[in-house]
Amino acid sequence: MPGPTRILGLMSGTSLDGIDAALVEFSSEPHFQWKLLSFYFMPWEEGMRKTILNCCRPDAALQQITVLNYLLGECFAEAAVQAVHHAGLAMQEVEAIASHGQTIWHQPEPLFMGRHTGRGTLQLGEPAVIAARTGRPVIANFRSMDMALGGQGAPLVPYADWRLLAHPAENRLMLNLGGIANVTLLPAGGSLQDVLAFDTGPGNMLMDALASAVTQGKWNCDRDGALAAAGKCHPELLAECMAHPFLQRTPPRSTGREMFGAEYASWLLQRAHELELTPSDILHTATRFTADSVLTSCRNWAQKHGPIHTVIAGGGGVRNPVLMQMLEEGFAPSQVCTHARFGIPDDAKEALAFALLGYETLQHKPCNVPAATGASRPAILGQIQWV
Ligand SMILES: Nc1ncnc2c1ncn2[C@@H]1O[C@H](COP(=O)(O)OP(=O)(O)O)[C@@H](O)[C@H]1O
Ligand SMILES: [Mg+2]
Repeated sequence: MPGPTRILGLMSGTSLDGIDAALVEFSSEPHFQWKLLSFYFMPWEEGMRKTILNCCRPDAALQQITVLNYLLGECFAEAAVQAVHHAGLAMQEVEAIASHGQTIWHQPEPLFMGRHTGRGTLQLGEPAVIAARTGRPVIANFRSMDMALGGQGAPLVPYADWRLLAHPAENRLMLNLGGIANVTLLPAGGSLQDVLAFDTGPGNMLMDALASAVTQGKWNCDRDGALAAAGKCHPELLAECMAHPFLQRTPPRSTGREMFGAEYASWLLQRAHELELTPSDILHTATRFTADSVLTSCRNWAQKHGPIHTVIAGGGGVRNPVLMQMLEEGFAPSQVCTHARFGIPDDAKEALAFALLGYETLQHKPCNVPAATGASRPAILGQIQWV
């Protein structure tokens, strides 16, 4: 596909805020180029958000999961139609749709089930439904092949980080503040094999759950860091959080709602009540925990290539000024900026990344980073639903 090829990337992250859709035009000749044609965000309607959350539990009802897979296919298709419409294009002008889907369970570490042990990851949003509604081929299940090769199936964005933002003379650290926070280190002039990436721990997920709890469900997140800004850190509770076993793990490592979701938030709330923290102190401590888990893991694993020149942050967390200030102070003297400086809207990065992965899949090009996921070899990612 040497000529311009339009791919629509679809993503819904662990924050469960909504579907991100990025329509991107790629070309490979005379050299690789990309252009974001449109970005569209479709927030989850509250009922759907609750239904998805109900399915992100070990005891979720199988009947609901089965139906949700098809329902989400309809939602992703709707977002795809809207995004293409916003770009002023017809669906036929789009080569393919690359859909990450909605993760409802991610189990990269072995799970013991009686006499058997297994691993797995599950993203919902039936590709056949998206293909049927849009009439375009759909590439989905990007994580499966990596996991089949012994990898964690995550993180997959590092390929896009490298392809879009690697620099010949600067060590760059890409920081994604989604529901979970993850980093990609792009060593100066490094090849794809030199890229290092891992999940650092919670991103917005924990702050969101606590903000919702202390406002009796009125807030979905600590909007603009307002609660945290009015509070202070409780060092003892912070130390207990920092002792979480996930933070001690050496990369490759990936995590999700299974580890830093509802159960963890209610443990933290209970400890906070025992220690008599105010709601603002709870949010401030959780925000500090989020920042420190990023900073500590970067110090331990990402700075072995020498000092980081630029930290490029993205994801919804960049809208939280308290979190961003903690990160700026912690990363100093490295400069912290956002993706917007590089022409990538902060919200569009992940959907753009999956559009790129889809583009590469159509060209049979491997896109996982085995050093980041732990897979035994590079692999072509994704399964294709033709129409
Ligand atoms: N104004 C804001 N103040 C604080 N947090 C915000 C704000 N806007 C968005 N966020 C956070 O960003 C999250 C969404 O980030 P996103 O990158 O889409 O995560 P994911 O990839 O997990 O869906 C929201 O859940 C919320 O926590
Ligand atoms: Mg999101």
